[in-house]
Amino acid sequence: MRLDKCLEKAGLGSRKQIKTLLKSRQVTVDGMLATAGSQIVDSGLQVIEVNGKKVDLEAAVYYLLNKPAGVVSAVSDAAHQTVIDLIAEKDRRAGLYPIGRLDRDTEGLLLITNNGPLGFRMLHPKYHVDKVYEVEVNGFLAPDAVTFFKNGVEFLDGTVCQPAILEILSADISFSRARIRISEGKFHQVKKMFLAYGVKVTYLKRIAFGPFVLEDDLAVGTYRELTSREKEALKEFLD
Ligand code: URA
Repeated sequence: MRLDKCLEKAGLGSRKQIKTLLKSRQVTVDGMLATAGSQIVDSGLQVIEVNGKKVDLEAAVYYLLNKPAGVVSAVSDAAHQTVIDLIAEKDRRAGLYPIGRLDRDTEGLLLITNNGPLGFRMLHPKYHVDKVYEVEVNGFLAPDAVTFFKNGVEFLDGTVCQPAILEILSADISFSRARIRISEGKFHQVKKMFLAYGVKVTYLKRIAFGPFVLEDDLAVGTYRELTSREKEALKEFLD
């Protein structure tokens, strides 16, 4: 959350008083002087101090979910189960939401947090968060597909994608498997890229998102908290 909001939540005064605290150089984040109220911080990941005294707030939560097919990447939905419905009552927090979207029929890694600004930053093109997917398609992936994806796939509407890295795992006339790494998050991007090559995606699973990787032992439909090492990796998105 924003530093000024964080200080306000910690009961350190009115907006005006907090502005003064910041301007008069009384606030530090991880030992560094902080004067901008707009700075994004997380009291669980960083030490926030006012005049050398630690500001204590309930830390944000971060869950890594293995999303099943059939569940929507939304906070609420009138017709379908949502990824938030998969979070146990004891782990629910106000403001929980998924960072980014997977299609309803896509499985795999989805981060869920109540740290609003951090999630939005991770999706910003500036951070180039790579996503890796396992893909099955209904046709033949010839060796030239690697170059096709590397050159930047063009959709029918003229949209050109950033280069993607394709690794063909198996290829047969009516069924191929591959792994693909992309650095953007366009709507239905992976499915549209393979369509542009001439095959249809029949199964899609995200296995990595930036530094976060889906382990085989995290059952579909279950989630876990990020480890402290993974939380350290979140810090790069706070700058
Ligand atoms: N690309 C897609 O086409 N679908 C997803 O769910 C994610 C990436």
